[in-house]
Amino acid sequence: MNQFLMDTNNLVTILKQRRVKLGQLIQHPVILWSSSPISRNFFANKYPFRASSHFLYFAGLSLADAAIRIEGGKLELFMDNNSPSQAIWHGAMPQREEIGAMIGADLVYPLAELANKTKAAATIAVQEQITYQQQCKLLNRPLALSDRASGIDLELARAIIKLRSHHDTLALQELRYSAAVSIQAHKAGIQATRHSSTEAEIRGAMERVIIAHNMSCAYNSIVTVHGEVLHNESYHNKLQPGDLILADVGAQTPNGWAADITRTWASGKFSSTQRDIYEIVLAAHDRCIAKMFPDVEYQDIHLLAAEIIAEGLVSLGILKGNPQDLVDIDAHALFFPHGVGHLLGLDVHDMEDLGDLAGYAAGRERSDRFGLGYLRLNRPLESGMLVTIEPGFYQVPAILNHSDFRTKYQDVVDWERLAQFSDVRGIRIEDDVLVTDSGSEVLTADLPTKVEDIEDLLL
Ligand code: GLY
Ligand code: MN
Ligand code: MN
Repeated sequence: MNQFLMDTNNLVTILKQRRVKLGQLIQHPVILWSSSPISRNFFANKYPFRASSHFLYFAGLSLADAAIRIEGGKLELFMDNNSPSQAIWHGAMPQREEIGAMIGADLVYPLAELANKTKAAATIAVQEQITYQQQCKLLNRPLALSDRASGIDLELARAIIKLRSHHDTLALQELRYSAAVSIQAHKAGIQATRHSSTEAEIRGAMERVIIAHNMSCAYNSIVTVHGEVLHNESYHNKLQPGDLILADVGAQTPNGWAADITRTWASGKFSSTQRDIYEIVLAAHDRCIAKMFPDVEYQDIHLLAAEIIAEGLVSLGILKGNPQDLVDIDAHALFFPHGVGHLLGLDVHDMEDLGDLAGYAAGRERSDRFGLGYLRLNRPLESGMLVTIEPGFYQVPAILNHSDFRTKYQDVVDWERLAQFSDVRGIRIEDDVLVTDSGSEVLTADLPTKVEDIEDLLL
């Protein structure tokens, strides 16, 4: 059950610090539910369980069907002990008193006791529907999901964002570990390429590393020769000579802390067109990371990536015009339609269950511009934040063949020149970058990004 990297005393100390800080930020009692395992095709056949991230942050352990109540820094744990029939099928579980001791709970109760302790409590709605209904019922009020929360729940969401967006030593230890295992997974994927004939075999080689560390994937892996399908989750394609493989794969530790890495490599050697575009994406990646310091606006980093990509595409003759002017009319977004990254922590898009409350500074809203609307993070960087930097280039048919875009950008794209890059369907390079007092630290730096180094790994 205890799969922590840190020894128990330090762990309990840090979990307590988190709860005390929460108590300083909100006067109300706080109840956080872990949520229930979700059935797949029949009741007893469940998806792998993972507790809600807000619960995990303060409780530390991925306990199913549990809740915690925090008031003035004190922790109460509510959960039932295994019934005799559960013990037959699932084995003996530690009793709630033992679990409470593991996480530094001050008091432990059966779950039913929670009904007597809900007065004036703030909470965050979980994603899983059965527990969500229980939350509404026990608190006797409707709960808004995501950034539609109001009143004390909004106050709680803001307090939690303050804590979770700056990673403490326990979080960083877990995040560094998930980054290290994810790096190994990517190396295994690159090295498996020569002996693989399908995307699925490469995926298998990558996820094998994660599973062999008793970890799981932080999100559904993308391992594809069609990198232009941004959230591609099919793995059936055969690898053909000349294909680029885009792999976006990240592990999560047993306690839920995520990594998020993308690399793109050739099935043999990069062609000259593939290399030309790869170098542009890599320049955007490197220069964005070099610009990361506390107080820098993340949106400016996104716009820097857009400008470098526009500049590179002008130099290749694919775009026509002045790079800054092209960014101003969102022409870069024809090829780089998503944001340059997002917060990372317990969730791969950290705290996105709260809508844009975590990602956007107070008073800011999503832009309706084509080149900015998919930006998930728009606030100044602060020391202790972990973000991804993930510029890319894609030839998305739904964009490039869309009549509105064709008309709007008719004069700034050299479509004949673009056709010469038909072997570049999708490239993304994604790393996990911690903001420090003096700049940044790339937690995933041990995974090469340079073409030569990636080609060396392929051998
Ligand atoms: N793996 C999801 C993302 O890169 O945002
Ligand atoms: Mn990402
Ligand atoms: Mn990713």
